[in-house]
Amino acid sequence: MCHIVADIPGWMHNEEIAFLREKAKGKDVLEIGCWLGRTTVHFLEVCKNLTIIDTFRGVLTIDGDKQPEIIKKLNSEGKTLFGEFLKNLGRHDAGNKNVEILKMSSEEAAARQSLDRKFDFIFIDADHRYEMVKQDIEMWLSHLSKKGIIAGHDYNTEPGVRKAVDEMFSSAIHGPISIWHVNV
Ligand SMILES: C[S@@+](CC[C@H](N)C(=O)[O-])C[C@H]1O[C@@H](n2cnc3c(N)ncnc32)[C@H](O)[C@@H]1O
Repeated sequence: MCHIVADIPGWMHNEEIAFLREKAKGKDVLEIGCWLGRTTVHFLEVCKNLTIIDTFRGVLTIDGDKQPEIIKKLNSEGKTLFGEFLKNLGRHDAGNKNVEILKMSSEEAAARQSLDRKFDFIFIDADHRYEMVKQDIEMWLSHLSKKGIIAGHDYNTEPGVRKAVDEMFSSAIHGPISIWHVNV
């Protein structure tokens, strides 16, 4: 698929990653929710510009308490999620491309004047609760450029994601696997 070995832990399948790479190629990309950077390294390799937003505090998912547990384990080893994310980015050298890293909540980032601009591809994979997914879509949709694509993950596994996406869009395309996307 690509020369980046997908050895960064995460939930994204190779088929989904291939789709994201294709859509992000040569584009101004905004990624919300990066975890350890499994998707970020791929965006960074193919996109024109990359902006990422994450609290690096983890999120509760339908699987229960796993992310906060993983973070606690990292902390007990003297590591942090953010530190591991930066290491992973550094390990997968993507040339001299810059990535703008916003270590803050999606809401805080949306309020920043420096982010008052458009992106060609917006990928949402942060807080999966219905209200939060809805809020993310509402906040970031106005940042989508003409003919841009807004997309996200966990449509099949997180009821909150499914409900918010179904409510917000009648034209959402589902797949590959658990990706949803809308060509505006
Ligand atoms: C499911 S993980 C992202 C997985 C990543 N896209 C991947 O494929 O490996 C969700 C991430 O969203 C972040 N997050 C949760 N709520 C957030 C919020 N309100 N704003 C920004 N980031 C948030 C968490 O810290 C976590 O790293």
